[in-house]
Amino acid sequence: MRKKVSIVGSGNVGATAAHWIASKELADVVLIDIVEGVPQGKALDLLEAMPIEKRDSHVIGTNDYADTSNSDIVIITAGIPRKPGMSRDDLLNTNYKIMQDVVGKVVQHSPNSIIVVVSNPLDAMAQAAYKISKFSKNRVIGMAGVLDSARFRAFIAEELKVSVENVTAFVLGGHGDTMVPLPRYSTVAGIPITELIAKDKLDALVQRTANGGAEIVKYLKTGSAYYAPSAATAEMVEAILKDKKKILPCAAYLEGEYGIKGYFVGVPCKLGSRGLEQIIEIKLTPEEQAALNKSAESVKELCAVIGV
Ligand code: NAI
Ligand code: 2OP
Repeated sequence: MRKKVSIVGSGNVGATAAHWIASKELADVVLIDIVEGVPQGKALDLLEAMPIEKRDSHVIGTNDYADTSNSDIVIITAGIPRKPGMSRDDLLNTNYKIMQDVVGKVVQHSPNSIIVVVSNPLDAMAQAAYKISKFSKNRVIGMAGVLDSARFRAFIAEELKVSVENVTAFVLGGHGDTMVPLPRYSTVAGIPITELIAKDKLDALVQRTANGGAEIVKYLKTGSAYYAPSAATAEMVEAILKDKKKILPCAAYLEGEYGIKGYFVGVPCKLGSRGLEQIIEIKLTPEEQAALNKSAESVKELCAVIGV
């Protein structure tokens, strides 16, 4: 039987995630939104692209959660994106209300699903989804680290004029200004980038990565990034549906790992058919641990505001 992925929110990230997932033939896709007509129109358009792409993914759009029933994965992108001058945290209260509306319906219609949260502020929204759904912690995962590390990889590849395929990079921490790119664990064909890029240049790339979302908001003016965010989401979906046991940086509910307890923070995770199957603990320097703690503190502050 085909796998089923529902995507709540058929805006820029949701619709583009549907595009990646259908065009990789990972699953049948259901796009759902509160706005009438938009998920239906985008889904039909995407369905009509399938013969050209030679893919048999079925795509539908709906406003009725009954159509999402028994999804294997539910991706939540519902919410407002930020505009120039706004931080991800400015979205907190609005998106929390949306999360309360959405997660209850997801639980009712897809009680065995794995939830991938995309809505911002990411770590706090993942925490909200975890608390509202009461799903086990392996079934609620936040998408941010794959995006943040892809941005870092793109900048490194551009700087060194090498294939993006040669570049691996790791970004830990919350999806915000306090994220923690880890140059020490980032490599080009196995060579640590600290051997290949001078410190001042590397610091600038780290800074650009941390500001990666804002850089795009500044250009777009009416919304935020969506091609890379949706591709990152599709990579997580692929790892789960194909049981790849792939290690990717994701926002995970920590219970003492990295000295953090009771919050979602970005860490290396093994993704497979059970969702988040393992949190990988790597040794951090005191500076890296301090940066991670600071990042966790800002997640904690947001969670306190909405009481999750
Ligand atoms: P968008 O505005 O294009 O789409 C959001 C969609 O959610 C809209 O179609 C809206 O009608 C829908 N929506 C609102 N309330 C809803 C509800 N109760 N039920 C169902 N649908 C509802 O925004 P975009 O660009 O797709 O971004 C979506 C979210 O993802 C934002 O919060 C954004 O900040 C976040 N984001 C997170 C990233 C990450 O790395 N975690 C990266 C990029 C975006
Ligand atoms: C990004 O990093 C807005 O979180 C979104 O592009």
